[in-house]
Amino acid sequence: MGKIIAIANQKGGVGKTTTAINLGSSLAFAEAKVLLVDMDPQGNASSGIGFETKGEYASVYDVLIGNADIEEAIVPSKVDNLDLLPSHINLTAAEVELVTALSRETRLKKHLEKIKDKYKVILIDCPPSLGLLTVNALTAADSVLIPLQCEYYAMEGLGQLLNTIRLIRESLNEDLALEGILLTMYDPRNNLSKEVMTQIEEFFSESMFRTIVPRNVRLSEAPSFGMSIIEYDIKSKGAASYIDLAKEILPRL
Ligand SMILES: Nc1ncnc2c1ncn2[C@@H]1O[C@H](COP(=O)(O)OP(=O)(O)OP(=O)(O)O)[C@@H](O)[C@H]1O
Ligand SMILES: [Mg+2]
Repeated sequence: MGKIIAIANQKGGVGKTTTAINLGSSLAFAEAKVLLVDMDPQGNASSGIGFETKGEYASVYDVLIGNADIEEAIVPSKVDNLDLLPSHINLTAAEVELVTALSRETRLKKHLEKIKDKYKVILIDCPPSLGLLTVNALTAADSVLIPLQCEYYAMEGLGQLLNTIRLIRESLNEDLALEGILLTMYDPRNNLSKEVMTQIEEFFSESMFRTIVPRNVRLSEAPSFGMSIIEYDIKSKGAASYIDLAKEILPRL
C-alpha cells in the first residue's frame, strides 16, 4: 500500500517542488511506482515534469470539488513509473470554495484512498502556505518531509509549521509522522551555509536525512526543459543527491 509523503514548508522557495520532482523521479528510476500530486496552484511540479498546464484538463482542483474522479485526472508522465495528478491555477479558488464545504480537510485523503494501492509512494508537493490545501495534504499523509534551505532564516517559521503538524495530529491525523528534515541548496564554500547546517543538526539530530542537497545549477535549469534531473543530467551532483535521498527513503516504504 502506497505511503503518502507530504513535502511541506510554508516558506517559499526552499526546494519543495525540486524535491517532489526529483525524489519522485529517482524513486521511479529505482522502479518504485510513484504518484506526484501537485497541490500548488502555481503548478510548478506539473510543468517541471513536462506537463502542459495551459488548456483544459481535469486537475486536482476538479477532484477536490467533486467534478472529476481521481482516476480520470491522473496522467502518466514521460518518466516510467511516475504518474502525475496535475495542478491548475484555479486551485487557488479551492482554498476559498472549500471553506464552507463538508469534510473540507479530508477531501484529498478520501480520494487518495481509492488509488493508494496502485503506488509504492505518493508525494504531495504543497504550496507555500499553511492554508486548506496544505491541511488537506497533511491530513492525507502518512508522513511529512520538510525541506530547509541552508540560509540564515532557515528556521524562521519552522515553529509555526511544527505547531500545525501538532494540531493536525490532535484533530485530523493522529498518525502523521515526521519523515525527516532535508537540507537543500547547501554551499560548502559558504561559511553561513555550514553554520546553518550545524545549527539545524543540533536542533533536529535524529530527524535529519543523511543526504544534503547541494546548490547545483543543473537542478535549477532542469524544470525549464520540463525534465527531472534524472533525465536532464544524471551525472550532476544534484542528481546524485536525490538518488541518495531515494536510497534513504526506499527501505522505509
Ligand atoms: N539544490 C538546488 N540548487 C540550485 N537551485 C535550486 C535547488 N533547489 C531548488 N532550486 C531553485 O530554487 C528555486 C526554488 O525552488 P523550488 O521551486 O523547488 O522551491 P519551493 O519551495 O517549491 O518554492 P515555492 O514555495 O514557491 O513553491 C527554483 O528556482 C529552483 O530551481
Ligand atoms: Mg513549489
